[in-house]
Amino acid sequence: MKSGIGQATGKIVLMGEHAVVYGKKAVALPFFSVGIKTTINDIEGPIRIESACYTGLLKDAQKAIPGLKYLIEKTLEHLNIPTKNLEIMIDSSIPAQRGLGSSASVSVSVVRSLFNKYDQELDNKTLSDLVFLAETIHHNNPSGLDATVIIEESFISFEKDKGLKHIDSNLKGYLIVADTGMFGNTKESVSNVQERLKREPEKTKEAIDNLGKLSEEAIHDIESGNLEHLGKLMTSAHDKLKNIGVSNETLDRLVTSALKNNALGAKLTGGGNGGCMIAITDTMVDAKNIVDALLEQGAKHTWIYHLKEL
Ligand code: MEV
Repeated sequence: MKSGIGQATGKIVLMGEHAVVYGKKAVALPFFSVGIKTTINDIEGPIRIESACYTGLLKDAQKAIPGLKYLIEKTLEHLNIPTKNLEIMIDSSIPAQRGLGSSASVSVSVVRSLFNKYDQELDNKTLSDLVFLAETIHHNNPSGLDATVIIEESFISFEKDKGLKHIDSNLKGYLIVADTGMFGNTKESVSNVQERLKREPEKTKEAIDNLGKLSEEAIHDIESGNLEHLGKLMTSAHDKLKNIGVSNETLDRLVTSALKNNALGAKLTGGGNGGCMIAITDTMVDAKNIVDALLEQGAKHTWIYHLKEL
């Protein structure tokens, strides 16, 4: 039979990470500079997985990739296909656990590849429901933001119980993404915020409310193309994220360095406590200077993302 192919992009949370878990608005965009391709071939015998995180039989994968194992089993059940005779190869350029959506993207590409192999139509609702199964195992209490932006492949605002809205972006400029090289465990940082909310309810709730308000304001700036004001909101969001304990010394250092080098704004992105930071600027000259400064400050990898592309 034919091979199945499924692809998915990375994602950037521009505003509202963590606050979105508490029903506040977040803003995210697809990150096409990185991505995942899954290829499925027929083999004889039990299902085999080949990927950077795990290579071996699906039945032995419970410890290494519990979410993905469950997702593959559930997707095959949905398609009414026996759980055998497949080789699933996952090829990723998204660094894992860096806030760039690697876990949701793997899930999206795997489900797409299985549906593609068996020539089944896949609508976004079915894809989202299936991917949510794996995300719940990965993150405990996911808002659904990561999977939604990766599935939609467009600039979106998102609220946990209300879903997504497409944003018509008029931003012209550059988004710089820098990887600290440190693993950021989203599950852990989401539960740290939960604990902080119990320990310091008033201060934490205020920061979360403010993060939600900043997302609302950011949507206007994206629509009107006001890069300068959006930058101010991003830097302000970083301070609030610091207040709820999801930044660290490396992220703060990279944010400060970007701002010193003419960035219009800078913040951590995604779960935090490691992972990546982002900055925006309106010229390529500044973008390159910011990248040089971030590399000097220890960033392990950087990307310049042309916002006009979206
Ligand atoms: C992770 O990209 C975003 C978080 O808000 C978690 C979530 O929304 O599930 C930290």
